[in-house]
Amino acid sequence: MPNYFALLPAAGYGSRMGQHTPKQYLTLAGKPMIYHAIRAFFQSTHIKRIIVVLSPQDPEWAKHDWQTFSEKLTVLYCGGETRADSVFNGLNTAAEQCAIDADDWILVHDAARPLLTQQALNQLIETLIDDSVGGLLAVPVADTLKRGSPDARVIQTESREQLWQAQTPQMFRRAMLLKALRMVEKSNITDDASAIEAMGHHPKLVHCIDDNFKVTYPQDLALAELILHNRNKP
Ligand code: C5P
Repeated sequence: MPNYFALLPAAGYGSRMGQHTPKQYLTLAGKPMIYHAIRAFFQSTHIKRIIVVLSPQDPEWAKHDWQTFSEKLTVLYCGGETRADSVFNGLNTAAEQCAIDADDWILVHDAARPLLTQQALNQLIETLIDDSVGGLLAVPVADTLKRGSPDARVIQTESREQLWQAQTPQMFRRAMLLKALRMVEKSNITDDASAIEAMGHHPKLVHCIDDNFKVTYPQDLALAELILHNRNKP
Protein backbone atom coordinates (compact mmCIF):
# COMPACT_ATOMS: atom_id res chain seq x y z
CA MET A 1 0.00 0.00 0.00
CA PRO A 2 1.45 3.40 -0.92
CA ASN A 3 2.03 6.02 1.76
CA TYR A 4 0.90 9.65 1.57
CA PHE A 5 3.31 12.54 2.09
CA ALA A 6 2.46 16.24 2.17
CA LEU A 7 5.02 18.60 0.65
CA LEU A 8 4.63 22.32 1.33
CA PRO A 9 6.75 24.66 -0.79
CA ALA A 10 7.23 27.70 1.44
CA ALA A 11 10.27 29.41 -0.03
CA GLY A 12 8.48 32.29 -1.73
CA TYR A 13 8.33 35.90 -0.62
CA GLY A 14 4.77 36.78 -1.66
CA SER A 15 5.63 40.17 -3.12
CA ARG A 16 1.95 40.83 -4.07
CA MET A 17 1.11 41.11 -0.35
CA GLY A 18 3.38 44.17 -0.16
CA GLN A 19 4.74 43.11 3.25
CA HIS A 20 8.28 42.73 4.55
CA THR A 21 7.53 39.35 6.17
CA PRO A 22 7.12 36.44 3.68
CA LYS A 23 3.37 35.85 3.40
CA GLN A 24 3.44 32.29 4.76
CA TYR A 25 4.47 33.80 8.10
CA LEU A 26 1.89 36.60 8.28
CA THR A 27 -0.31 36.23 11.34
CA LEU A 28 -3.65 34.53 10.77
CA ALA A 29 -5.89 33.70 13.72
CA GLY A 30 -2.95 34.16 16.08
CA LYS A 31 -0.55 31.82 14.20
CA PRO A 32 1.78 32.11 11.20
CA MET A 33 -0.29 31.35 8.09
CA ILE A 34 1.66 28.18 7.25
CA TYR A 35 0.71 26.75 10.67
CA HIS A 36 -2.87 26.24 9.46
CA ALA A 37 -1.77 24.38 6.32
CA ILE A 38 0.54 22.13 8.35
CA ARG A 39 -2.24 21.45 10.89
CA ALA A 40 -4.62 20.23 8.17
CA PHE A 41 -2.16 17.51 7.17
CA PHE A 42 -1.12 16.77 10.75
CA GLN A 43 -4.74 16.02 11.65
CA SER A 44 -5.24 13.68 8.69
CA THR A 45 -4.68 10.00 9.51
CA HIS A 46 -3.83 9.41 5.82
CA ILE A 47 -0.69 11.56 5.93
CA LYS A 48 2.50 9.87 7.10
CA ARG A 49 4.81 12.89 7.06
CA ILE A 50 4.75 16.60 6.23
CA ILE A 51 7.75 18.05 4.43
CA VAL A 52 8.16 21.83 4.54
CA VAL A 53 10.53 23.34 1.98
CA LEU A 54 12.04 26.66 3.07
CA SER A 55 14.44 29.06 1.45
CA PRO A 56 18.08 28.47 2.52
CA GLN A 57 17.93 32.08 3.81
CA ASP A 58 14.57 31.69 5.57
CA PRO A 59 14.38 34.47 8.18
CA GLU A 60 11.30 33.37 10.14
CA TRP A 61 10.79 29.64 10.72
CA ALA A 62 13.09 29.39 13.75
CA LYS A 63 11.24 32.24 15.51
CA HIS A 64 8.11 30.09 15.98
CA ASP A 65 7.23 26.97 17.95
CA TRP A 66 6.42 23.91 15.82
CA GLN A 67 6.62 21.35 18.63
CA THR A 68 2.95 20.34 18.25
CA PHE A 69 3.70 18.87 14.83
CA SER A 70 7.18 17.48 15.48
CA GLU A 71 6.38 13.77 15.20
CA LYS A 72 5.25 14.19 11.57
CA LEU A 73 7.32 17.17 10.42
CA THR A 74 10.49 17.36 8.29
CA VAL A 75 11.91 20.80 7.49
CA LEU A 76 14.26 21.24 4.54
CA TYR A 77 16.14 24.44 3.69
CA CYS A 78 16.46 23.73 -0.02
CA GLY A 79 13.89 26.00 -1.72
CA GLY A 80 14.75 27.31 -5.18
CA GLU A 81 14.14 30.31 -7.39
CA THR A 82 10.66 29.23 -8.48
CA ARG A 83 7.88 27.20 -6.88
CA ALA A 84 8.68 24.30 -9.24
CA ASP A 85 12.36 24.43 -8.19
CA SER A 86 11.35 24.34 -4.52
CA VAL A 87 9.08 21.31 -5.06
CA PHE A 88 11.73 19.54 -7.11
CA ASN A 89 14.55 20.20 -4.62
CA GLY A 90 12.34 19.25 -1.67
CA LEU A 91 11.15 16.05 -3.26
CA ASN A 92 14.65 15.05 -4.30
CA THR A 93 16.07 15.62 -0.83
CA ALA A 94 13.09 14.08 0.99
CA ALA A 95 12.94 10.97 -1.20
CA GLU A 96 16.04 9.63 0.56
CA GLN A 97 15.74 11.34 3.92
CA CYS A 98 12.11 10.28 4.47
CA ALA A 99 12.28 6.94 2.61
CA ILE A 100 9.63 7.81 0.02
CA ASP A 101 8.96 4.99 -2.46
CA ALA A 102 8.43 5.57 -6.18
CA ASP A 103 4.71 4.76 -5.90
CA ASP A 104 4.02 6.78 -2.75
CA TRP A 105 1.65 9.70 -3.19
CA ILE A 106 2.94 13.27 -2.77
CA LEU A 107 0.37 15.95 -1.95
CA VAL A 108 1.94 19.28 -2.86
CA HIS A 109 0.19 22.15 -1.08
CA ASP A 110 0.83 25.90 -1.11
CA ALA A 111 1.87 27.21 2.28
CA ALA A 112 -0.39 30.17 1.54
CA ARG A 113 -3.62 28.09 1.45
CA PRO A 114 -4.57 28.00 5.13
CA LEU A 115 -8.22 26.93 4.67
CA LEU A 116 -7.86 23.31 3.54
CA THR A 117 -10.51 21.19 5.30
CA GLN A 118 -10.40 17.50 6.22
CA GLN A 119 -13.44 17.04 4.01
CA ALA A 120 -11.65 18.43 0.93
CA LEU A 121 -8.47 16.50 1.71
CA ASN A 122 -10.37 13.22 2.11
CA GLN A 123 -12.33 13.89 -1.05
CA LEU A 124 -9.08 14.35 -3.01
CA ILE A 125 -7.44 11.23 -1.59
CA GLU A 126 -10.51 9.03 -1.94
CA THR A 127 -11.13 10.13 -5.54
CA LEU A 128 -7.55 9.47 -6.62
CA ILE A 129 -6.64 6.43 -4.57
CA ASP A 130 -6.75 4.09 -7.60
CA ASP A 131 -6.00 6.68 -10.27
CA SER A 132 -3.12 6.01 -12.64
CA VAL A 133 -2.18 9.71 -12.98
CA GLY A 134 -3.34 11.69 -9.92
CA GLY A 135 -4.99 15.09 -9.82
CA LEU A 136 -5.80 18.25 -7.95
CA LEU A 137 -8.45 20.19 -6.10
CA ALA A 138 -10.03 22.77 -8.36
CA VAL A 139 -13.16 24.91 -8.78
CA PRO A 140 -15.09 25.64 -11.98
CA VAL A 141 -14.63 29.29 -13.02
CA ALA A 142 -17.65 31.33 -11.92
CA ASP A 143 -16.92 34.83 -13.23
CA THR A 144 -17.02 36.04 -16.83
CA LEU A 145 -13.48 36.13 -18.19
CA LYS A 146 -12.00 39.08 -20.07
CA ARG A 147 -8.68 39.15 -21.89
CA GLY A 148 -7.12 42.56 -21.25
CA SER A 149 -4.56 44.74 -23.02
CA PRO A 150 -1.50 46.06 -21.14
CA ASP A 151 -3.46 49.30 -20.44
CA ALA A 152 -6.43 47.32 -19.03
CA ARG A 153 -8.84 47.57 -21.98
CA VAL A 154 -10.93 44.54 -22.88
CA ILE A 155 -9.61 42.79 -25.98
CA GLN A 156 -12.17 40.02 -25.85
CA THR A 157 -14.45 37.96 -23.65
CA GLU A 158 -13.28 34.37 -23.17
CA SER A 159 -15.60 31.42 -22.76
CA ARG A 160 -15.53 30.04 -19.23
CA GLU A 161 -17.01 26.71 -20.32
CA GLN A 162 -14.91 23.81 -19.04
CA LEU A 163 -12.49 26.19 -17.32
CA TRP A 164 -11.37 25.41 -13.77
CA GLN A 165 -9.22 27.28 -11.28
CA ALA A 166 -6.44 25.01 -10.07
CA GLN A 167 -5.89 24.79 -6.32
CA THR A 168 -3.79 22.57 -4.11
CA PRO A 169 -3.18 19.92 -2.84
CA GLN A 170 -2.05 18.43 -6.12
CA MET A 171 -1.48 14.72 -5.71
CA PHE A 172 0.90 12.65 -7.83
CA ARG A 173 3.15 9.66 -7.33
CA ARG A 174 6.73 10.47 -6.34
CA ALA A 175 8.42 8.95 -9.40
CA MET A 176 6.06 10.52 -11.94
CA LEU A 177 6.20 13.95 -10.29
CA LEU A 178 9.99 14.00 -10.10
CA LYS A 179 10.29 12.93 -13.72
CA ALA A 180 7.78 15.57 -14.82
CA LEU A 181 9.48 18.37 -12.86
CA ARG A 182 12.87 17.37 -14.24
CA MET A 183 11.49 17.66 -17.78
CA VAL A 184 10.04 21.15 -17.31
CA GLU A 185 13.07 22.53 -15.49
CA LYS A 186 13.53 26.28 -16.08
CA SER A 187 10.08 26.76 -17.62
CA ASN A 188 7.54 29.09 -16.02
CA ILE A 189 4.99 26.58 -14.74
CA THR A 190 3.09 27.67 -11.65
CA ASP A 191 1.72 24.33 -10.47
CA ASP A 192 2.66 20.66 -10.40
CA ALA A 193 -0.15 19.47 -12.65
CA SER A 194 1.32 21.55 -15.52
CA ALA A 195 4.47 19.43 -15.39
CA ILE A 196 2.43 16.21 -15.45
CA GLU A 197 0.37 17.60 -18.38
CA ALA A 198 3.59 18.37 -20.28
CA MET A 199 4.29 14.62 -20.22
CA GLY A 200 0.96 14.01 -22.00
CA HIS A 201 -1.08 12.97 -18.94
CA HIS A 202 -4.50 14.29 -17.91
CA PRO A 203 -4.69 14.94 -14.14
CA LYS A 204 -8.14 14.54 -12.59
CA LEU A 205 -9.94 17.72 -11.49
CA VAL A 206 -11.54 17.14 -8.08
CA HIS A 207 -14.20 19.78 -7.35
CA CYS A 208 -13.40 21.46 -4.02
CA ILE A 209 -16.59 22.64 -2.36
CA ASP A 210 -14.99 24.28 0.67
CA ASP A 211 -13.14 27.63 0.63
CA ASN A 212 -9.50 26.90 -0.17
CA PHE A 213 -8.20 30.08 -1.79
CA LYS A 214 -4.57 31.16 -1.84
CA VAL A 215 -3.84 34.23 0.25
CA THR A 216 -2.31 36.55 -2.33
CA TYR A 217 -3.51 40.12 -1.67
CA PRO A 218 -3.85 41.93 1.70
CA GLN A 219 -7.67 41.68 1.67
CA ASP A 220 -7.45 37.85 1.39
CA LEU A 221 -5.98 37.67 4.88
CA ALA A 222 -9.01 39.29 6.54
CA LEU A 223 -11.40 36.98 4.66
CA ALA A 224 -9.38 33.88 5.60
CA GLU A 225 -9.45 35.02 9.24
CA LEU A 226 -13.23 35.40 9.15
CA ILE A 227 -13.74 31.96 7.58
CA LEU A 228 -11.46 30.27 10.14
CA HIS A 229 -13.27 32.08 12.95
CA ASN A 230 -16.68 30.92 11.69
CA ARG A 231 -15.49 27.33 11.27
CA ASN A 232 -14.16 27.24 14.82
CA LYS A 233 -17.41 28.48 16.35
CA PRO A 234 -18.92 25.90 18.71
O1 C5P B 1 3.86 33.07 -5.12
P1 C5P B 1 2.80 32.02 -5.07
O2 C5P B 1 1.63 32.44 -4.25
O3 C5P B 1 2.40 31.46 -6.39
O4 C5P B 1 3.47 30.79 -4.27
C1 C5P B 1 2.81 29.57 -4.07
C2 C5P B 1 3.60 28.74 -3.06
O5 C5P B 1 4.89 28.42 -3.60
C3 C5P B 1 3.84 29.48 -1.74
O6 C5P B 1 3.64 28.55 -0.68
C4 C5P B 1 5.30 29.91 -1.86
O7 C5P B 1 5.96 30.06 -0.61
C5 C5P B 1 5.90 28.78 -2.67
N1 C5P B 1 7.14 29.16 -3.39
C6 C5P B 1 8.32 28.45 -3.14
N2 C5P B 1 9.48 28.82 -3.78
C7 C5P B 1 9.51 29.86 -4.62
C8 C5P B 1 8.31 30.58 -4.90
C9 C5P B 1 7.13 30.22 -4.27
O8 C5P B 1 8.32 27.51 -2.36
N3 C5P B 1 10.66 30.20 -5.19
